[in-house]
Amino acid sequence: MNVSVSPAETLRAALGDLLDGLPPRQAAQAVARLIANYRGATPTDAPILRDRADVAAYAAYRMPATFGAVCSALEAFADAAADWTPGSHTDVGGGTGAATWAVSATWDGTRPVTVLDWAEPALALGRELAAANPALREARWQRARIGPSLSLESADLVTVSYVLNELAAADRAALVDAAASAGQAVVIVEAGTPDGYARVMEARDRLVAAGFRVAAPCPHSAGCPIVPGTDWCHFSARVSRSSLHRQVKGGSLPYEDEKFAYVAAARFPVSPVPSRVVRRPQIRKGQVLLDLCEAEERLDRTTVTKRHGELYRAARDAAWGDPWPPDTEG
Ligand SMILES: C[S@@+](CC[C@H](N)C(=O)[O-])C[C@H]1O[C@@H](n2cnc3c(N)ncnc32)[C@H](O)[C@@H]1O
Repeated sequence: MNVSVSPAETLRAALGDLLDGLPPRQAAQAVARLIANYRGATPTDAPILRDRADVAAYAAYRMPATFGAVCSALEAFADAAADWTPGSHTDVGGGTGAATWAVSATWDGTRPVTVLDWAEPALALGRELAAANPALREARWQRARIGPSLSLESADLVTVSYVLNELAAADRAALVDAAASAGQAVVIVEAGTPDGYARVMEARDRLVAAGFRVAAPCPHSAGCPIVPGTDWCHFSARVSRSSLHRQVKGGSLPYEDEKFAYVAAARFPVSPVPSRVVRRPQIRKGQVLLDLCEAEERLDRTTVTKRHGELYRAARDAAWGDPWPPDTEG
């Protein structure tokens, strides 16, 4: 029997193997050190991921979450570009390669893959993990510093996942401009915080100015209707917790929800959703309240009641981040 294993399961197993032989206490200490570093001043002048222990801790602790967030963003993008498959992929600030795993989980097949990062230990571990994924075995893991002199080779898809946060404003601009020059499609993911959203908005503006159309999450490429400072657009991806997570964070929940903000944009025509659910739907007796971002460049709360029949049943199933109304073709 030929049982195919998904990239998500393969990644989980490869990350589990990483911690084999590392005493749990040591792994937890490495994670704690890393979290403390990330709470310090970023951007930094030198890589935060300095050695294998740092990188193994980063990968085991954060990679399932960044992988989950990028998968959600790519899924929304793939829905808006149904006939498109990337023929090549560059992941900038790719670290241990979470976004390359997410691309391989979203689109079948193999393609030339390049991962760029300034932290050699991260690239080395990424290469090691990628040996378990047939779609990534030929990937190139290259050292590169993001800065004013960054130039990228052409690629169908350029991803930038959880990187803008680590860069000064001028380097963020240089990175987004380089991605826009090199890519037919660009997907940028950040933490789902007000600051993460602000960085995504800044990148979105640059991509639109460079001639890109927004494919997701927005229903349009015009200005975001959120009044700055009043709210922030973000989404949530459910991620299974590893034993390392439970050890570091305590608690017994088998999962956690990774909040993220993102923009996916392309140079080619895309079909954004008519509107998107931008908050967790509130289910009340006989009605569902949906907060929507709409094609008319506005936010709206709509109430779907039992009287709406089929639509009401769909609203009860709707999740934060879903298109609305649901796609009834297919
Ligand atoms: C939070 S990690 C994200 C890694 C990966 N993209 C992911 O989603 O899991 C940020 C990455 O950006 C890289 N990075 C930060 N500043 C950089 C710079 N100036 N040049 C190159 N890489 C940089 C770091 O080394 C690290 O691997």
